Amino acid sequence: MCGIVGYIGEQEACGILLNGLRELEYRGYDSAGIALLEEGRITRFRAVGKLDNLVHRVGEYQTSGPVAAIGHTRWATHGKPTEANAHPHGLTHSQVVHNGIIENYQAIREQVPGDFLSQTDTEVIVHLFESLLAEQPDGEDAVLKAFRATLNALHGAYAILLVTETRPGEVFFARQGSPLQLAQAADGVHFASSDAPMVGVCDQAVYLEDGHWGVASAEGIRLFDEQDQPAEPITAPLLATSTAAQKEGFRYFMEKEIYEQDAVVSDILTGRLTETGVRLDELPDGWLEQFTSITLCACGTSYHAALTGAYLLERLAKVPARVEIASEFRYREPVLDPTGLFVVISQSGETADTFEALKLAAAQGLDTLALCNVDNSSIVRAASHTVLLRAGIEKGVASTKAFTAQVMALWLLAVHWGQVKGVLDADTGGREIEAMRRVREAVAIQPRVHDRLHRLSKRYLHGHGFFFIGRDLFYPLALEGALKLKEISYLHAEGYPAGEMKHGPIALADAELFTIALMPRSRLYDKIKSNVEELSARDSTIIAITTEYFELADDIIQIRAYDHPMLEFFEMMVVCQLLALEIAIRLGNDVDMPRNLAKSVTVE
Ligand code: M6R
Repeated sequence: MCGIVGYIGEQEACGILLNGLRELEYRGYDSAGIALLEEGRITRFRAVGKLDNLVHRVGEYQTSGPVAAIGHTRWATHGKPTEANAHPHGLTHSQVVHNGIIENYQAIREQVPGDFLSQTDTEVIVHLFESLLAEQPDGEDAVLKAFRATLNALHGAYAILLVTETRPGEVFFARQGSPLQLAQAADGVHFASSDAPMVGVCDQAVYLEDGHWGVASAEGIRLFDEQDQPAEPITAPLLATSTAAQKEGFRYFMEKEIYEQDAVVSDILTGRLTETGVRLDELPDGWLEQFTSITLCACGTSYHAALTGAYLLERLAKVPARVEIASEFRYREPVLDPTGLFVVISQSGETADTFEALKLAAAQGLDTLALCNVDNSSIVRAASHTVLLRAGIEKGVASTKAFTAQVMALWLLAVHWGQVKGVLDADTGGREIEAMRRVREAVAIQPRVHDRLHRLSKRYLHGHGFFFIGRDLFYPLALEGALKLKEISYLHAEGYPAGEMKHGPIALADAELFTIALMPRSRLYDKIKSNVEELSARDSTIIAITTEYFELADDIIQIRAYDHPMLEFFEMMVVCQLLALEIAIRLGNDVDMPRNLAKSVTVE
C-alpha cells in the first residue's frame, strides 16, 4: 500500500528519502511527502500525485549536518488524495508517517484535543502522541513512554515512523501488521517498508516482527517486543546488488515483465526437474504424504493462480483441493480439515488478508506452506515452509510474471505430490515433465503475435464490456485475463466459466459486448465452441484465442498447437496480458501505476 522510508545520519537526506520513495512508489502514488528534523526544527514538504511533484516541490532544498528524516508515498484509504491528506502529518513539534489503518481513529479524534487538518486516520497518531507527551513527567525516557502509550491506544494495523523536535536525531518506530525494516549502514540508519530502498546501501536489515517498536539514533537502536522487553534485533542479509529494476527499452515495466516470463520459467524450474520427476528440496521428505487435503488461499491474481492449482492438484495428485479468497476466509469461521495443508500464495508476501488467513490456519494447528516471491516477507516468515517463486522483482502493479511463477510452482507441487503419493504413473508424470520443459517456449513472445495484438487493440477501446470465457483450467485464466484488462484499461471486463453464460450473463450479449473466447484444442474444445456459438447467435462480437480457424470469430488470435493444455494455457495467458497492455496504452493510461491501485495491499 503506502511506502515508508526514514534516515538518520549526516548525509544529505532529501536525496536519500526521494530515492527510497522512488523504489517504493509502486506501493502507492496518490501523494508523497517528507519531514526533515535538523538542529531541533522540522521542515516538511508534501505534494499531491506522483513523486515527481514532490521532487519539484523540494527543489534545491538540501540538508547539511545531522538529520533525522521520514518520508511517505501514499495510497489513499481515509480521505481523498489531497495535500492536506498527504503524509507526514504533524502538530506542534512532531511529524508521523504511517502505513496501515487505525481502526479506532474516530474514537481517538473525539478523545484528544485540537483541530484536525486532514481526513486521515493517521493524523490521530500525532495528536495522541503530543497529548500523551504533555502528560508525561519529565525524564530521559518521557518521549519513549509517550510513544509507547500512543501505540497502546491504537487498534488496527500500522508501520509508523515519528520524529519530534523534542528528541533531535531520533526516529521512533513501530510495526503491527504492516511491514517495516531498518538497517544500520556506514552512513547512518535507514528505514523502509520493504527492503528495496536499502539494497545496495546496507548489507544487513533488521526485519521487525509484529509488536516490535523502539527508537533509533546515530548511537544505536533500542528495540522492544510486544511486552516492552528489550528484543534482540535479528538481522538478515540484503542482496549485494541493487534490485532496482530498469525498463531496459520497454515502454512500461509491465511490458518488460511480460517479456521476462521465459526467463522466469527457466529460473523456477532450475534444479527442480529430474529425468522423470520433480524435486522440491524446500519440503522435508515425507512431509506431503501426511495431508489429506489442501486449501489454497490468496487474493487477486494470486487467487486465480490458486484456482488453476486446484485443477492441477486434484487431477495429478488426487488430493481434495479447495480455494479461498483470503478476505472472505478470515471472517467466515471456516472449518478446516485438521489433517489438511494450508497454502497461501502471494507475490508480495505482505498482503494483509492473506497474511491474516495464514495466521488463522496456523492458529488452528494446520501446517502451512507459502508460495511467495519475496524472501523475508511477513508471509514467508510466518509460514512453516516456503517455495520461493523466483520471479524477480515485479514493479508493474498488474501482476504478470509472478502469476506465471505461481502457476508453475503449483504445477510442480501437483506433480511432486502425485509422485510421492504414488498416484501419478510414470508415463503421465513423464508427459508433465516434458510439458514443463516446453513452457519457456510457450511464454516467449512471438513478435508476430504482439504486432497483431497491437493492431487489433484499436478495435476494442469502447463497447459496454468484455466477457472472457473459458472452461476447466481456462476458466481461472479467463478471470485473470479480465482482471488484467480492467486493472489497466479501466474498461469493464468479467471472467466467466463458458458454460455459465446461458444461466444469466448471455442477457448482455449484443454487438458491443466483446467476448474473448479461450478455445484450447486440448481441452473441451467442442463444448466451448458450442458456448461461443450461443453468444455469436446473439450477435456478440467474438475474439477467439485458438489454434484453429473458427468461422464465427470476428477476430482470431492464433496460438500454436500443443498436445498439453498447460502449454496452451501459458500461450493464451501471454495473449491476454499483451491485449490488455496494448488497449491500455492506446487509451493513454499509465500502465505501471493504474489509477486507484497499489502494488502491495497491506491493509484489509
Ligand atoms: O502480493 P499478492 O500476490 O498477495 O497480491 C494479491 C493481489 O493484490 C494482486 O494479485 C492484485 O490483484 C494485482 N494487482 C493483480 O494484477
